[in-house]
Order: sequence, then structure tokens, then C-alpha cells
Amino acid sequence: MLERSNELTAWDRDHFFHPSTHMGMHARGESPTRVIGGGEGVYITDIAGKRSLDAFAGLYCVNVGYGRQKIADAIAEQAKNLAYYHAYVGHGTEASIRLAKMIIDRAPEGMSRVYFGLSGSDANETNIKLIWYYNNILGRTEKKKIISRWRGYHGSGVMTGSLTGLHLFHNAFDLPRAPILHTEAPYYFRRPDRAMSEEQFSQYCADKLEEMILAEGPDTVAAFIGEPILGTGGL
Ligand SMILES: Cc1ncc(COP(=O)(O)O)c(C=O)c1O
Repeated sequence: MLERSNELTAWDRDHFFHPSTHMGMHARGESPTRVIGGGEGVYITDIAGKRSLDAFAGLYCVNVGYGRQKIADAIAEQAKNLAYYHAYVGHGTEASIRLAKMIIDRAPEGMSRVYFGLSGSDANETNIKLIWYYNNILGRTEKKKIISRWRGYHGSGVMTGSLTGLHLFHNAFDLPRAPILHTEAPYYFRRPDRAMSEEQFSQYCADKLEEMILAEGPDTVAAFIGEPILGTGGL
């Protein structure tokens, strides 16, 4: 076990490019590595045998827990039958069509179609494209600005990293790109006026947003994006 662990750690330090990790320190062995070997329910176990409660749910995406037999069986069955086919020019698969129908059956009223993506960043990039496309089709070629919030997290690509309102994701990457703007963070703890109630602070944030829209020109603002609850920017 120890030998396997040492070997994996050495390969990890030599060959694995980890996000949000100092590459030099990682390569030199100055920062910790942890190799997760398995998961069951809400627990993960690393290859050294240490079991932890995964309160983070992966990266907030393991919504039904680890090691679900039914899901593993369904994935295996689908992989044996048809592991991949694309969705371009009217093509689909039974699984993708059924999933679209199941999502719409459970979605809020007014939703009619599902566009499949691969990640949250990908989904938000697609949203930006749809908004710009829509305004171009309507001849509103100036209506392109998107307002996000400081401390919001919307991904790490060029445009979604721009939507993200965290300097760590901007510095040294030439972000944020135009036409992305940022408004007040809904950060009550650091509110500008300590006497403000939560309701007053909410109103203050809404006023700041309106001020920005009016200052920029409503005909140039295409959308506002915000997480219902801040994730990465202030769990
Ligand atoms: C609210 C929100 N939007 C977008 C993303 C980006 O998703 P992904 O990491 O799948 O690109 C995340 C990821 O944590 C998120 O929390």
C-alpha cells in the first residue's frame, strides 16, 4: 500500500497539472497531495485509508452521494449499448431525448428545451452567446454588456472567468474582458454602513445595480447574472 501511495504521489508531482495549486510547490513536494481512492454515500477514503465526511460533495456536484449502484449500472448499460453520439443537425439518442423530457417535466413553468453542455463554465458561455445572438438578430447590436457581482463565481474560462468577481481569477489572465461589469457584492458582513439592516442592505445592492444600468445606458445592458446563494466567493 505504501509503495503504491509513494509511486502515485511521485507521478502526481511530476505529471499532474492541478488547478488552483502552486505548481512549483506541488512539484517540489512542499504542499500536500491527497489521493482519493473511493467513496460511499457521504464519505470519501484516501489511499492511505483515511475516511472523511465529504461535506463539500466533490466540488458541490456529487448531489446523490458516492457509490450508487443503480447509477453505476445505468452508466455501464448505456456504455455497452452506445457510449457516444453527437447532437448536431437533428441527431439525438434515446438517452439524451429522454433526459431532455425528464428535465423539462421538472423545470419551472415556461421552460421548453434543454441544451446540453459539459460544465458550469460551458453553460454560462452558452448563455452569453445566446444573449448576444438574440440581440444581434433583433438588430440591438449595442445591447451586449453583462453585469455580474463582485465575489460571484460563474466559471473560469475567458468569458465566465470575467463574469466571476474574484481577483484571483482575473489577475495575470487579462480578465475581466469587456463587456463584463461588476456591481456590489451581496456581502452583508462587510456592508459599507454597519447600521444597515439586511433589508436595507438588499435595497442598497439593488440601487447600486440600477445606478450602474442607468449610468451605462439601459440600451447597452443585455443581462445580469447572480447566484441565488454565493458559492465559491463566500460559501
Ligand atoms: C454558480 C457556479 N457557476 C458556474 C460554475 C462553474 O462550473 P464548472 O466548474 O463546471 O465549469 C460553478 C462551479 O463551482 C458554480 O458554482
